[in-house]
Amino acid sequence: MTVEQAPNRSLQLTADGQLRHFLTLDGLDRALLTDILDTADSFIEVGERSIKKVPLLRGRTVVNLFFESSTRTRSTFELAAKRLSADVLNLDINTSATSKGESLSDTLLNLEAMASDMFVVRHSQSGAPHFIAESVTPGVAIINAGDGRHAHPTQAMLDMLTIRQHKGGFESLKVAVVGDVLHSRVARSQIRALNELGAAEVRVIAPGTLLPRDVESLGCSVEYDMQKGMKDLDVVIMLRLQKERMEGALLPSEREFYRLYGLNQAKLALAHPQCIVMHPGPINRGVEIESAVADGPQSVILDQVTNGIAIRMAVMSMAMGGQVAERNQKQAGRAQA
Ligand code: CP
Repeated sequence: MTVEQAPNRSLQLTADGQLRHFLTLDGLDRALLTDILDTADSFIEVGERSIKKVPLLRGRTVVNLFFESSTRTRSTFELAAKRLSADVLNLDINTSATSKGESLSDTLLNLEAMASDMFVVRHSQSGAPHFIAESVTPGVAIINAGDGRHAHPTQAMLDMLTIRQHKGGFESLKVAVVGDVLHSRVARSQIRALNELGAAEVRVIAPGTLLPRDVESLGCSVEYDMQKGMKDLDVVIMLRLQKERMEGALLPSEREFYRLYGLNQAKLALAHPQCIVMHPGPINRGVEIESAVADGPQSVILDQVTNGIAIRMAVMSMAMGGQVAERNQKQAGRAQA
């Protein structure tokens, strides 16, 4: 069974539809995505206080397991867990027993034996968080922090929160995702979220070599010419060229890619005058985006980073709440039997 065919809904949700793991946006409906956005909205104010803490995960242990490098996701998950008053363990994979050949399953078993309540997992293999969620001790929540090319659901949700803040909603929006869609877990999750939340149009703009074969089946139109694709856009989301995942030469050169698909002020001027510019980071200036645009008045790139904390607080508190509710229901069932 592939990750895409996996029973995402039953794995991620309790019998009464509460979040218990957060692995992918597949199978999650508009009401739940909106609930996540609304919950995150309520946490934004926490980040503006002098004492940035609420007690929702007090006494809980959150383990950050990053098998791939990260700046934004790892830092904002750690800050989010701390703002929820959890104890946080950041396992340094480079100095952990993984480097001595310990398997993922054995690493997990040992960390579970330390009474961990939640694992935040980033892994280069698509499906690694699903694999863990299928075998983890009941009561422990798994949060996907990006797996291979498959999904980066908290990134997509922080992007949706940023869009909603700046545009008020999704219904009338024309949104484009530009660049290396082929290797992008972020793009897959964003397209899924935008469709579920009711965006008027989702298009991808890229050379054919950087598009998956079945790209339209993700729920988007395709434009190969960026000059045409920028027309009337309300939101443009630039993607990083993911050279670490590229096999073979997919581009003539970075210079040529930037000429055709890099976002500069001239191309941005073709979009709606209020078009916002997004990028999940890390950005490569002069490869995907011109500095004048990345740092310009239409850029909301750093808002995305800030919103990552609130979204991750929302997802972690909701998943822990779902796990606790499920355990209470099982205990009540056993008491009645
Ligand atoms: N957007 C994102 O996932 O960035 P990091 O790789 O720095 O976490």
